[in-house]
Amino acid sequence: MNSLVNKHILLGVTGGIAAYKSADLARRLRDAGAQVRVVMTRGATEFITPLTMQAVSGNPVHLHLLDPQAEAGMGHIALARWADAVLVAPASANFMAKLAHGLADDLLSTVCLACDAPIALAPAMNRQMWAHPATQANRHTLEARGVRLFGPGEGEQACGEVGLGRMTEPQHLVEMTAGLFEIGSLSGKQVMVTAGPTREALDAVRYISNRSSGKMGYAIAAAAVEAGATVTLVSGPVTASIVAGIPAHVSRIDVESAAQMYEAVMSRVSQCDIFIGAAAVADYRPQRVAASKIKKTHADINLALERTPDILASVAALRSTGQDAPFTVGFAAETDDLEAHAQAKRAAKALDMIAANWVGQPGTGFDSDENALTLFWEGGGMQLPQSSKEKLARQLIAIIAERVHVRN
Ligand code: PMT
Repeated sequence: MNSLVNKHILLGVTGGIAAYKSADLARRLRDAGAQVRVVMTRGATEFITPLTMQAVSGNPVHLHLLDPQAEAGMGHIALARWADAVLVAPASANFMAKLAHGLADDLLSTVCLACDAPIALAPAMNRQMWAHPATQANRHTLEARGVRLFGPGEGEQACGEVGLGRMTEPQHLVEMTAGLFEIGSLSGKQVMVTAGPTREALDAVRYISNRSSGKMGYAIAAAAVEAGATVTLVSGPVTASIVAGIPAHVSRIDVESAAQMYEAVMSRVSQCDIFIGAAAVADYRPQRVAASKIKKTHADINLALERTPDILASVAALRSTGQDAPFTVGFAAETDDLEAHAQAKRAAKALDMIAANWVGQPGTGFDSDENALTLFWEGGGMQLPQSSKEKLARQLIAIIAERVHVRN
């Protein structure tokens, strides 16, 4: 079974007798490693209490579209961005009709419209309601839009009738939800990722650095592992909690300065198929490093800086020297004119792809949990709208896997 570990599953519960099984489903999703947030419709709360769903999901349950408290925290857009997949179980005939027609008159239908993650429904209803031409037309509309239908199953129904309309059992729904996440797109590939900041020493105790937390690069390394790659992560100094989030079988090399990162990358790059430079490598370092702490003896002092080696450019340049060069992906951190600067970097360094992000603004870029990326490659590109760095990393890895196949 594909892994649900650390996947964000938004579980929608609509009104139907099968809602009592949603508690078991939430528990099983968590047992499989997923993080679960629950959105209930008003009808669902007639069948099972939000308190039960809160207890089994481990998170507050979301009920209302226009809830000032929720809007300040996990509002509908934040929930839509948070979700790696939406599973609505049970999905009533009414909910299917609403989704098929694009109605957004409650929290769950609104989140589904606002979400670019995969959506799956586990229909549950009386067999006649399922067979009704209106429901079947809605089903076909939804399937044509890429919504996945998990069931319904056949058997005895709560109303006493027998036929198609039973909600698929929770253990199968967990497996089917895991199946929404593609794995193996990079299986057999060696991927090297750089992450975090570098520190450029001034003297025995001081350094120049930047605000990179490593979250983006670590998320990319984890997504590459999920996609089946063997991953080497060359990491600048990051906090213990960032390190703790990385899968155990990532081979991590800790470095401090740009020169050390250069050395770590260049000595291993010949074995790698894909190189992704997400680290915020210092462009300049002090020309000389004082052996002891610089004393406060002058009113002012000037620092002479020199360029650091450009790791990304050196990796990409291997191709022009006839050596095996990996598929090379750079990042561009920009405060203005994102596209022009990113395209210039891509061209100057002859990169296969560049992922550009805005920095210096709250909420994205450096040291935030979310980001947004604009990707550029020769003759094409793509926007990855704002969402969690984990979700973006998976999207980025999926696109890199596609582009690698195009190049080969
Ligand atoms: O770590 P987080 O807090 O999660 O933040 C993520 C991030 C904003 C750091 C990340 O998304 C990002 O943009 N990383 C690249 C930052 C950067 O240094 O951008 P740049 O435009 O200055 O550099 C362009 C590229 O050259 C980057 O791929 C960089 O790794 C590479 N480079 C730069 C200098 C150098 N000496 N060697 C390099 O390899």
